[in-house]
Amino acid sequence: MTTPRTWRVGVAGLGTVGAGLLKFLAERPDFAPAGGRAVVTGVSARSRSRPRPFDIAGLPWFDDPVALAASPDTDVFVELIGGSDGPAKAAVEAALGAGKPVVTANKALIAEHGAELAALAEAKGAPLLFEAAVMGGTPAVKMLREAMVGDEVKSVAGILNGTCNYILTEMEATGRPFAEVLAEAQRLGYAEADPTMDVGGFDAAHKISILAALAFGCAPNYAAAEIEGIEGVDLLDIQLARDLGYRIKLVASADRSPDGVLVRVHPSLAPLAHPLAQAGGALNALFIEGARIGRIFIQGPGAGSGPTAAAVAADIADVMTGATRPVFQAPAGQLKPFTPVDPSKSVGRAYLRLSVKDEPGVIAAVSETLAEAGVSIESFLQKPIENAPDILKGGVPIVLTTHAVAESVLKAAIERIAGLPAVLDRPRLLRIARI
Ligand SMILES: NC(=O)c1ccc[n+]([C@@H]2O[C@H](COP(=O)([O-])OP(=O)(O)OC[C@H]3O[C@@H](n4cnc5c(N)ncnc54)[C@H](OP(=O)(O)O)[C@@H]3O)[C@@H](O)[C@H]2O)c1
Repeated sequence: MTTPRTWRVGVAGLGTVGAGLLKFLAERPDFAPAGGRAVVTGVSARSRSRPRPFDIAGLPWFDDPVALAASPDTDVFVELIGGSDGPAKAAVEAALGAGKPVVTANKALIAEHGAELAALAEAKGAPLLFEAAVMGGTPAVKMLREAMVGDEVKSVAGILNGTCNYILTEMEATGRPFAEVLAEAQRLGYAEADPTMDVGGFDAAHKISILAALAFGCAPNYAAAEIEGIEGVDLLDIQLARDLGYRIKLVASADRSPDGVLVRVHPSLAPLAHPLAQAGGALNALFIEGARIGRIFIQGPGAGSGPTAAAVAADIADVMTGATRPVFQAPAGQLKPFTPVDPSKSVGRAYLRLSVKDEPGVIAAVSETLAEAGVSIESFLQKPIENAPDILKGGVPIVLTTHAVAESVLKAAIERIAGLPAVLDRPRLLRIARI
């Protein structure tokens, strides 16, 4: 009988997720997926003296995470620092270069350098696992990489950033504008001091780029993602969308067609009864559409110390059990090229909000202009607004939704509408989610 193995785990990064992992391993001495044990044998963070919610006095300390990765006492390297480059990347490369398994929660690193890291990992025969990088504790990565590998995934779409979802949910529930809700989210710790990665849509773009790679068997291509955040979502649009039977969500999507792959992040309208519209607060939610399996929907926490650490622990379990799979859907050398689809060729329905002069003939002029440009109107809403917000520039709002139209046609139509004398400002375009 062989003695169960002890896996010596080096943890770099002792913040929200790192603290959650140390707590998990302390609370779960029975965590022995392959009969062996996982024991933390080294830690690294920026500040050794910073107060932490757990005692690190007895653990070997490394100022440099690269040294922790290279230490002969580290069997598994867990990277929980963050950032696409810098110490996180250097330490992951050092561990993989030495043939050591790496577990990371770092979506920026995987989205921007996933292909080269996968090649290094596979050349060295070392697993590179990142379940926690997308949807935190909700298992989206393993679902696509493992469970869906027998199907051909056509699209994935969902809510992948809890901070944005929280802000949009609060704006609708309380009638407060974006800036006020963001400031409150920062006070409560739901948003970072610098919220750009979240509210700018970049974090969701990192995550959907990873899911696209797993779903379609191509290398992640973050640079090809079309990204729009929620900073420009106005309360007026949330209210008008609701009047039309929709809720605005930050939707990240990846679609495969014969032309290639389209990865996008946009504030988008989802019908009120749709599961994506129903996923409120900081929840994450994801649809996966397979050619044979059909539609799958998962929903759960996308962040937080406990849930994210549980996903990291699940990856450590994979290392301990010896599970071996390519980092993405196929070995790094066999990943398909990522051919980006021109977003202007994509076809979908849209919401347009116009600020117009309150005079006869305006609706007719807008309708005719759209018809001439090849855009067909699905519904029209004109609603008197009390205390009209400044964004209406003294005009009244009209809102319309379109039937499916190519984005290039829609954008050309918007230019023509913007030039009408009765239209006071550029029309606000929001997509209606294709879900
Ligand atoms: N928070 C979540 O819910 C969540 C969910 C999913 C994925 N993730 C990902 O998990 C990773 C960690 O996130 P987090 O929220 O735990 O971050 P965090 O709370 O900001 O913690 C980052 C940790 O990295 C350490 N660090 C920074 N620079 C370092 C360096 N040069 N050398 C060594 N350590 C360094 C920090 O040290 P000090 O403590 O000394 O400052 C801190 O302990 C990120 O990639 C993030 O995107 C987070």
